[in-house]
Amino acid sequence: MRKAAALASAAMVAAVAVASAVSRQWQRRAVKRLERAGAVLRGLEEGCAAPVELLRQVADAMAAEMRAGLASEGESDLQTIVTHVDSLPSGDETGMFYALDLGGTNFRVLRIQLGGKEQRVIKQDSKGMSIPQHLMSSSSHELFDFVAAALAKFVASESEDCCLPEGTQRELGFTFSFPVKQTSLASGTLIKWTKSFAIDEMVGKYVVAELNMAIKHQGLNMKVTALVNDTVGTLAAGRYVDHDTIAAVVLGTGSNAAYIEHANAIPKWHGPQPMSGDMVINMEWGNFKCTHLPLTEFDRELDAESLNPGEQITLIRSNVPLSKVQTRKLVVDVCEAIATRGARLAAAGIYGIMKKLGRHPDRRSVIAVDGGVYKYYTFFSQCMESTLSDLLGQELASSVVIKPVNDGSGVGAALLAASYSQYRQADEY
Ligand SMILES: *[C@@H]1O[C@H](CO)[C@@H](O)[C@H](O)[C@H]1NC(C)=O
Repeated sequence: MRKAAALASAAMVAAVAVASAVSRQWQRRAVKRLERAGAVLRGLEEGCAAPVELLRQVADAMAAEMRAGLASEGESDLQTIVTHVDSLPSGDETGMFYALDLGGTNFRVLRIQLGGKEQRVIKQDSKGMSIPQHLMSSSSHELFDFVAAALAKFVASESEDCCLPEGTQRELGFTFSFPVKQTSLASGTLIKWTKSFAIDEMVGKYVVAELNMAIKHQGLNMKVTALVNDTVGTLAAGRYVDHDTIAAVVLGTGSNAAYIEHANAIPKWHGPQPMSGDMVINMEWGNFKCTHLPLTEFDRELDAESLNPGEQITLIRSNVPLSKVQTRKLVVDVCEAIATRGARLAAAGIYGIMKKLGRHPDRRSVIAVDGGVYKYYTFFSQCMESTLSDLLGQELASSVVIKPVNDGSGVGAALLAASYSQYRQADEY
């Protein structure tokens, strides 16, 4: 009995000893692991560093690429797409306008009632719906019939007081968030599907024509008057609330910018000279490349695995389960290193646009900004703004305003339908 007890206690002592050795070893390993992680973190921070001198080079390269992109097609990685949008909302639009925002498994229909300079947005409704899985790989017919039916239902639900005068055609801004080759303000062909869509026969087809046909099929007197990229919609929404808006930047899952260019500074544009003298350019700045970009091994790895290797640098994002406090701290540090770089590069991009346009401190310049990263990640927005101030210098910075704008792909598209309304009096331009 005593022997058994002694054995048991010896076993216990041994177990405790082993356990503490294991735990010491584990701790040592944990410390080693943390040290290693720390070294990786420092490497990442160094790789992500974007000092002001480098940002100035990035901005200069951006301005130069913009010039090259505007000179002729294929001259630059920056596509600088001429959007055909040469008239932005002024704020005095009146009437009821619609938008269709189709960019993924969910889509939205939206209606906005505008009351001119004094009343502005009188009323706004929207309805979100999802696209049934099977329609994403069906036919363009079935897809657009479904969407048009939803539009018809939305219109049918309107109350008497918001009805349009008899015989008036409803006007719709269409935000189609897939790569499109735009051929005029209200037409363009699908270049390729992205996300989970795969309707092969639709590639190369005119998307607006398809939608208009489906709308007609529903017996609805409505027409698409503008085909819009979400970034262009954001610019329109920004311009509606502030006439000094010169550019829009979207910082979300992806990033893009659009700005207002002087029509006579676009050599590759051979269309009619716009009355406003201006043309909106969709920069597609996700394709911007320059040797100064601070890229790390992680970016290269991610790029190699991406949908379009070499085309768009998807700056690393992190998605690590948060467990221990130290791990959590590490994740925060990694996020901040990446976010700081992203925010500083975004600031350099905006500075590049300002340089290209030659903005002076005697004119107010408003940059409309939208996207989850900007809106919900305060660390990012603060870093972007302070970096932009550093780049601009005190005097110019005091004339630049960063303005958060909501829902460019919905409200912005409806506002563009309004600024291009067929019922708009000529003298309003
Ligand atoms: C417009 O926006 C979408 C989504 O933001 C993007 O994927 C697309 O490539 C953009 N550009 C063009 C030219 O269609």
